[in-house]
Amino acid sequence: MTQIAAAGAFELGGKTVNRMGYGAMQLAGPGVFGPPRDKDEAVAVLREAVASGVNHIDTSDYYGPHVTNQLIREALQPYPDDLTIVTKVGAVRGEDASWNPAITPADLTRAVHDNLRNLAVDAMEVVNLRRMGDGHGPTEGSLAAQFEALAELQRQGLIRHLGLSNVTSAQVAEARAIAPVACVQNMYNIAQRRDDALIDELAALGVAYVPFFPLGGFSPLQAQALTEAAATLGATPLQVALAWLLARAPNVLLIPGTSSRAHLRENLAAAELSLPAEIRARLDTIGAPERVVAS
Ligand SMILES: NC(=O)c1ccc[n+]([C@@H]2O[C@H](COP(=O)([O-])OP(=O)(O)OC[C@H]3O[C@@H](n4cnc5c(N)ncnc54)[C@H](OP(=O)(O)O)[C@@H]3O)[C@@H](O)[C@H]2O)c1
Repeated sequence: MTQIAAAGAFELGGKTVNRMGYGAMQLAGPGVFGPPRDKDEAVAVLREAVASGVNHIDTSDYYGPHVTNQLIREALQPYPDDLTIVTKVGAVRGEDASWNPAITPADLTRAVHDNLRNLAVDAMEVVNLRRMGDGHGPTEGSLAAQFEALAELQRQGLIRHLGLSNVTSAQVAEARAIAPVACVQNMYNIAQRRDDALIDELAALGVAYVPFFPLGGFSPLQAQALTEAAATLGATPLQVALAWLLARAPNVLLIPGTSSRAHLRENLAAAELSLPAEIRARLDTIGAPERVVAS
């Protein structure tokens, strides 16, 4: 079995988690809406992830909605003591599967209670405030009212640790002035490196950075340099993409998503893949910011 501990561990909220985790979004039906195509496989994926050493699972009650949390509850209760389940709030799904902002204090409170009920826990370990921003990228603007609402739920004991998703560096600073921030979850992968500076900033603060779409999201990553590195290393291109993220910084925690055990095994095995310096240097060129040429 893969030794996922080979990728190391990092503090997330109150616990230390393996850097190789799992994202549950793919377990809901097509378009992250409705029940899974194969429920038995979804339950098996969750059980195998935990049996393989995964102790960090990312979810939201708006996946489905409710579907992934109910699957997690069915598959994993009683939850292992070392398991950290991270959820996110800030949106609701329309009947047409649309994703709509839901950020009033009442919306956020309802969302936290939805997570507690569907996961059957008394308190959430980590709740991320997910800003809608501009699709999968953040836009500036104060999040104080929303983060203060979650900090109040933390004071009430419903949330142990707070995080942020789809945010800018300025928004991280604004939130940290209100309450400690355990993690930041933004879009980032070998080809999409808008957050390079933020990752370094958070690493210096000891705050976990959790990239979403680590494999490229709904269209898995493809690049010549990935294919070549994979051939050299006897790995798959997506394993190389995950190994690159693990090598990026020690505070980067992975939550690759999949609905299949075969893909889960492939992804977890990336924990044992180390990248020689020359291969890393070539991979760095895939998403490197364009050089500014002085005129
Ligand atoms: N904070 C946010 O706003 C936000 C947004 C998006 C996602 N997330 C979180 O981040 C997690 C990861 O993102 P994601 O699941 O959207 O994208 P991802 O991990 O980048 O990629 C998932 C996609 O890759 C496929 N895949 C996975 N492993 C594969 C493999 N070994 N070979 C070939 N294809 C493979 C999956 O299909 P199969 O099911 O067929 O394997 C799925 O289509 C999510 O599960 C969710 O928990 C957060």
